[in-house]
Amino acid sequence: MKREIEQEMSYLHVTAKEQLHEWVEQIKEFSSEGKTADYIPALKDMDSSQLGICLIGADGTVIQSGDYESVFTLQSISKVISFIAACLCCGIPYVLERVDVEPTGDAFNSIIRLEMHKPGKPFNPMINAGALTVSSLLSGETAKEKLSYLFDVITMLTGKTPLINETVFESEWQTSHRNRALAYYLKETNYLQGEVEEVLEVYLKQCSIEVTTEDIALIGLILSLDGYHPVFHKQVIPKEVAKLTKALMLTCGMYNASGKFAAFVGMPAKSGVSGGIMSLVPPNTKKQSPFPDGCGIGIYSPAIDEYGNSVKGVTLLKKIAKEWDLSIF
Ligand code: DON
Repeated sequence: MKREIEQEMSYLHVTAKEQLHEWVEQIKEFSSEGKTADYIPALKDMDSSQLGICLIGADGTVIQSGDYESVFTLQSISKVISFIAACLCCGIPYVLERVDVEPTGDAFNSIIRLEMHKPGKPFNPMINAGALTVSSLLSGETAKEKLSYLFDVITMLTGKTPLINETVFESEWQTSHRNRALAYYLKETNYLQGEVEEVLEVYLKQCSIEVTTEDIALIGLILSLDGYHPVFHKQVIPKEVAKLTKALMLTCGMYNASGKFAAFVGMPAKSGVSGGIMSLVPPNTKKQSPFPDGCGIGIYSPAIDEYGNSVKGVTLLKKIAKEWDLSIF
């Protein structure tokens, strides 16, 4: 019986791989909307035709397609990791005293709610204001120490030592006027610990960490399994932190398109302006799913929409969620 189930699963995975190739090719050919993030000069010249995806199942099955080997920077996907890292070093109550868990419906870099809602607590850790607060909470006094702590957390998840793309960092460091304004505002209202320039360095360097679709798919998979690492066979994120993170990804991870994404895709996800999306499917019993025990998904396609989400990436996620009935609802 076990053998029969295993044979059926491997057949399912072969079919899933073929389907995925077809969808990736179709979307690459027909989708020409969106453009690369030009407000960060180093991201402007990325090849907007690229589309790559990696899915990793709880049983270790890896399915990849398209430009899945491309290296890109985490950008806002890093907000998920820094939030987890802050919860690990400070505990959930301490973190949530300083950043809320409410969606905004505003752009990711908006400043408006900080002033409109006293005392100016950032609405959630997935927007820039909340992420700056979170970066300031990371263990360590200096930017170097905080980044070293964050690197340790990333290594614990991916098994790799992270690398910073210095060109992307420098490019954003020179042009990050709005993030500076947000950080100074947060400093004034006591929602930023330490020095503004140090925190900004941590935040922009975490955004500039290089990854592949496989790295973020693995992190997605660990979250899908409530913090259990299926390769290292241990609980690397407390279950409570993993659940909170997934709720934040679902409600705030795609910014002011999070509602639409929940409605029409229905999976926790986090995007970044470089065109990456980290998503996941919890274990489920739906028949069409090639990953009934759950999976992590990493996507890369650099042309983004007005919300900062990858256009081809969202189209592909919508397609696989529909065809394989992956929505959590
Ligand atoms: O702070 C910024 O503007 C970028 N480093 C990150 C923004 C981002 O990725 C928003 N994503 N969709």
